[in-house]
Formats: sequence, C-alpha cells, structure tokens
Amino acid sequence: MRKKVDFLVIGSGIAGLSFALKVADYGKVCIITKSRAEEGSTKYAQGGIAAVMYTPDTYEKHIEDTMIAGDELSDENIVRITITESTERVKELIEWGANFDKNASGKYDLAKEGGHSEFRVLHHKDNTGNEIERALLKSIANHPNIEMLENCFTVDIITQHHLGIEVNRRTPDTRCFGAYVLNEATHEIDTYLSKVTLIATGGNGNVYNTTTNPAISTGDGIAMVYRAKGRVENMEFIQFHPTSLYNPNEKPAFLITEALRGFGAILKSHDGREFMQKYDPRGSLASRDIVARAIDSEMKINGWDYLYLDARHLDKNKLIEHFPTIYAKCLSIGIDITRDMIPVVPAAHYNCGGIKVDEWGRSSIHNLYASGECASTGLHGANRLASNSLLESLVFSHRASIDALKEVSKIDYCDDIPDWNAEGMVMNEEMVLITQSLKELQLIMSNYVGIVRSNLRLKRAFDRLEILYSETEDLYDQSILTTKLCELRNLINIGYLIIKMAMERKESIGLHYSIDYPRIRD
Ligand code: FAD
Ligand code: SIN
Repeated sequence: MRKKVDFLVIGSGIAGLSFALKVADYGKVCIITKSRAEEGSTKYAQGGIAAVMYTPDTYEKHIEDTMIAGDELSDENIVRITITESTERVKELIEWGANFDKNASGKYDLAKEGGHSEFRVLHHKDNTGNEIERALLKSIANHPNIEMLENCFTVDIITQHHLGIEVNRRTPDTRCFGAYVLNEATHEIDTYLSKVTLIATGGNGNVYNTTTNPAISTGDGIAMVYRAKGRVENMEFIQFHPTSLYNPNEKPAFLITEALRGFGAILKSHDGREFMQKYDPRGSLASRDIVARAIDSEMKINGWDYLYLDARHLDKNKLIEHFPTIYAKCLSIGIDITRDMIPVVPAAHYNCGGIKVDEWGRSSIHNLYASGECASTGLHGANRLASNSLLESLVFSHRASIDALKEVSKIDYCDDIPDWNAEGMVMNEEMVLITQSLKELQLIMSNYVGIVRSNLRLKRAFDRLEILYSETEDLYDQSILTTKLCELRNLINIGYLIIKMAMERKESIGLHYSIDYPRIRD
C-alpha cells in the first residue's frame, strides 16, 4: 500500500496528538501508532504537569529550578522559552477538555515535587496523564482531517538513502520523505509519503530490566533517526525514578508518584529510620538523581532489595482522596498505605536525551521534526525536573507546528521512493532468539549502565552488546519483519548510544554518575 499525507505523525501520546490538533486545519494528517491509540507513557503520568499559574510562583523561579536540576547542561534559552510559554500551553490543554483538580476557592490545586521551589504542578488526582490523553483523543476523534492508524509499527523513516544516494552524518541536506510502516493486520510494509513528518515515539525505558515505562517505550524513533544519520545527543542521562513499587516480576514497575512525597510521605529504611538527611538537607524531596542514588547506596550497603515510603502519618481520608490509584494498586497486593509502609525501589523512568532538535522542534534532517520524550530540546540538560516533560511536549509540538505550517506549502512529495522490498526474507520460527537477547540486553544495561557506573562496567557492557548487535543484525537481514524483532534491534541501538555517550563523558554530572570521576562541581 502507498499513501500520501501532508503531515505524518508517528506516535499518539501528548506530543503527537497535540501537534496533530495544531496542523489538522491545514492539511491531511495521519497518525501512526504501534499499539492502541491511548497506550504510551502519557497515559500513565501520575504527578502532573508543571506550569507557572499564580503568585508567589514566577517564571524566574521555575527557570531557576529547571536550570539547577539540569546541572549546568540545560540550554538557558530553551528553558526560558519553555517556562514562559507554560501558562499559555496549559490553558490550551484545558480548552481541549483536560480537567485538573481545584481547591475549595476554585483555584487549581497545585502540587509540589522534588526540586521545585514552589507549588506548581497541575494534576488530576494521581492519574493526570490518563485525563490528558482522554481529552486529546476526544478532540482528535472530532477532527475530520485526522486519521488514526493503530497497530502500525514504523520501521524506518525514508530519506534519499532509499533512492540509492549516499547519506552520512555530515550530509548537509538529508531529507525525510515519509516512513515505511508495518501493518500488523496485513503483515505488509506500507509506504507513507509525507511533506512533513513528526517523530513522537516516546522513551526507551525497556532497555532496562526494571522500568516504569509501558511496553511500547522501546526507543524506536531515536533508533530510526540515528540509522538515518540524524543527530542524537545526551543519551547517557537516564533518569531513574526513586520510588517504583517493589513487586518483583511486575512489568512495567508501578510508579509511586513523587507527589506523594510532596504530600508528606517520607523515605525510611528497614528499621523505620529516615535516612535522606544524610545525603541532602532537602530530605525525601531532594532532586530525583540524589534520592535515587541515596536509595541505591542504602540498598547496596545493607543488602536490601528495596526501601520504604511511609505515608502512615498522613490524614487517611485526604491520602485516599488524592492518591486513589496508588491506594487501590497497593491494596490489591495486600498493602494498605494508610497502615503499612510501601516497599519501593528505583526504576528506569525517563530519557533526558534523544533526537537533537532546535527551538522549533526541527531535527538535523530536513522536513523531520521531533517532540516529546524522544526529542532532546536542551530543556533537561543532565537531569529533568519532575513534571517538566509533559510541558516540554506541549511547548515543542506547538512550536514545531508553527514552523511546519510555514514550510509545508514549499515541500513536494518524492514519488520516486521505492516500496519496501521483502524478497527472499523468511519467517523467523524461533521466538527465543528475540526474547533471550532482549533479557540479556536488559540485564547488561541494568547491572553495568544503571544509576552508578564505572569505566570497567561500561566497557564490559559495550563488549557484550557487540555480540547481541551482530546476531540481531544477521537475523534482521534474513527475516520477514515483526514488531518484536524491530523493537529488539532498536533497543540494542539505544543501549549502544547510552553506553557510547556515557563512555565519552569523562565526568560525573547530573544523572550520569561514575565512580571513576569523583564529582568536582557542586
Ligand atoms: P508517549 O506518550 O510514550 O507516546 C509514544 C507514542 O509513540 C505511543 O503512541 C506509541 O505507540 C508510539 N510509538 C512508539 N514507537 C512507535 C513506532 N515504531 N511506530 C508507531 N508508533 C510508535 N511526566 C510529567 O511531566 N509528569 C508526570 O507526572 C509524569 N509521570 C510519569 C509516570 C510514568 C509511569 C511514566 C512512564 C512517565 C511519566 N512522565 C511524567 C513522563 C511523561 O509521561 C512522558 O515523558 C510523556 O508522556 C511522553 O509523551 P510522548 O508523547 O513523547 O510519548
Ligand atoms: C511522578 O509522578 O513522580 C512522576 C513525575 C515525572 O516523571 O515527571
């Protein structure tokens, strides 16, 4: 099948949907999504979306908090753009139908999370992402120019490479002409030709053994752009969330939102004592990298598999009212959070780097934009401030839409692009070749490239990954493509990028902490 659309959007989370809504009045939009439309990290966001709403908060305070979290690597211009546009973007989200909790006086009930100096996180109980995704999908369904294709897996973006023209990382005018998409219903690989393409494929937590990310987060967009010789950066900065529910074998790990600590819950060790003050005067609400490292260190020193989060001293009714999802989830495994401490463990949560984009969401490849977790805008630097990512998606999808609408009329389709050639490929009958390699990859990454790293661990990880890489490339070259095989290939690519960039960074900074480079900044 061959199809032409003005705007091709890959991904149906907050980044893809908000972009689609902005451009749909000006041309045909096709959203390609590899699972059901609502499935993605967006739906699972708990804490909320950070934005400056009322005094005493100010843009300057939010900018400063973001810069501090980013550990000197955030781009100040991008931080300023994002924060000063936050109020407007959130108001627009509300106009699209998203509901956020209000207090008795009718003002938004703003929460506070680690690293924030003010209450500024808008939320909908502890299921904010679900509410945002619901509202966006409803608006999308009402738009006649938007087509949503579920269970369609984008394999690769199309460039002049597919016309037989050499493209390398120094090619100044690499162009995107669309994408090849595996339709899981027909098993065909279809050709989508587009004028503008947006990659909004989310994160890559599944490169690790324990992650809060849903199964779809396999770094596909980043891997595609890297293969197409686009620019990718800052992949070493993987944020581990300090508090996922310790419930071995549950995938993904269920998140216990930082907002619960903002609400007064306290981290404790097995003997019931507080330990965070030893690491940071802000205690349980220190920034995420510090809390995750502190938990990791306590677990390693004491040989524990988890620590505790204590909410027992909080008002029972308010606790249940504000955190109904967490209350119900814990209760389902026998933990009553009003009476029992919650066992918690860090889990891979967020990718701060990704496809390098400029202030208009433009990647290094012409006609190709990226937004959301797969993009590296410069906002997060070496560490993301909690609840800044939903905001970042809105701001940069908005900016990408402005630029795309300016450009789209000047762009032609490339009709010479050939269809996908699957001649000679055979069906891989041994699923174990994929599942075993995935498990190996996740263990290598968790054990050698986790919260604390060293030169030796990184080298070991790199060497082991090379074997997985060559075996998987051989399999890919012979096989009729499946989503699972493509995801494995992409995750190996992501692992490679994380390790390579971690090896190149010869210092401990933000989320990249190496015992070989004692911290000199403070
Ligand atoms: P996603 O919402 O992940 O969407 C990605 C989309 O791309 C999906 O539709 C997927 O199917 C599609 N896709 C991927 N690959 C392909 C492919 N090859 N072909 C076709 N489609 C593809 N951030 C905050 O700011 N506040 C929070 O409170 C918060 N809480 C969080 C809680 C959890 C449990 C998690 C996991 C994350 C949380 N985050 C939070 C982070 C935030 O949710 C994500 O960064 C954000 O939702 C990413 O949005 P996105 O649109 O980029 O990607
Ligand atoms: C949380 O609710 O703790 C997650 C917030 C985030 O990842 O930004």
